[in-house]
Amino acid sequence: MRKKVTVVGAGNVGATLVQRIAETRLADVVMVDVVDGVPQGKALDLLEAGPVMGYDSRIIGSNGYDETAGSDIIVITAGLARKPGMSRDDLLAANGDIVKKVAEETGKRSPKAVMIVVTNPMDVMAFAAMKASGFPKERVIGMGGVLDSARFRTFIALELGVSVENTHAFVLGGHGDTMVPLPRYSTVAGIPITELMSTSTIEKLVDRTRNGGAEIVALLKTGSAYYAPSASTLEMVEAVLLDKKKILPCSVYLEKEYGVKGAFAGVPVKLGAGGVEQVVEIKLSAAEQAAFMKSVEAVKAGCAKFM
Ligand code: NAI
Ligand code: 2OP
Repeated sequence: MRKKVTVVGAGNVGATLVQRIAETRLADVVMVDVVDGVPQGKALDLLEAGPVMGYDSRIIGSNGYDETAGSDIIVITAGLARKPGMSRDDLLAANGDIVKKVAEETGKRSPKAVMIVVTNPMDVMAFAAMKASGFPKERVIGMGGVLDSARFRTFIALELGVSVENTHAFVLGGHGDTMVPLPRYSTVAGIPITELMSTSTIEKLVDRTRNGGAEIVALLKTGSAYYAPSASTLEMVEAVLLDKKKILPCSVYLEKEYGVKGAFAGVPVKLGAGGVEQVVEIKLSAAEQAAFMKSVEAVKAGCAKFM
């Protein structure tokens, strides 16, 4: 039977993700948005690209939730995006109410789905979605680490003049200003970048990674990044639908791992059909652990509203 994915929010990230899902022939898609005509129009446009691109995915747009019933994955991208000068946390109040409603409405119609949360501030929104849906922690996952790691990988590849395919990187912690890029666990063809670049170069790349979202907001002026975010979300969708058991940095609810008691934070996890199948605990140095805990505290502060 064909897989079914619901994408809520037919804006830049949502619609581009739907296009990517169809073009990789992964699933049928239902796209939901509050704006009348937009999800319907984008869905029809994407459907009509099928004969040219060679995909048969059924793509439906709706302003309601009934069509989403029985989805294998629900992706939440609904909400406001950052404008210049806004932090991800500025979005908290507005997006909290939206995400809670979306998680409730989709969760009750697809009680076995894996929920992937993209809306910012993502780690806090993942917590709000878990509370509102009543889903177990294994099936609510935030997208941030894959994107932040992709940005770090891009900058490493540019700096060393190597293929991005040779790069691997881990960025942990919250998807915000306190994120924790880990140079020791970031490699080119298996070689840690700490052996390939000076400390000052690494610091420059780490800094650019931390500001990767803001760099694009400043250029676009009217919204935030969506090509790399939708590609990163697709990697998670694919890992779940194809039961790949892929290890990716994702925001998950930690109850003891990494010394965290009750918060979402980005850590390496094994993603498969069941959602989070394992939290992979890598050894952090004292400085890395301190930076990670600082990031977790920032997420916890935002979550207080949703306790
Ligand atoms: P966008 O403004 O292009 O699209 C958002 C869509 O959500 C709009 O079409 C809007 O009508 C819709 N929407 C608003 N309220 C809704 C509701 N109650 N139900 C259904 N749809 C609703 O924004 P974009 O660029 O797609 O970003 C979406 C969100 O994802 C933002 O919060 C952004 O900050 C976040 N984001 C997170 C990333 C991450 O790494 N976690 C990366 C990129 C974006
Ligand atoms: C990004 O990192 C805004 O969170 C979004 O591009």
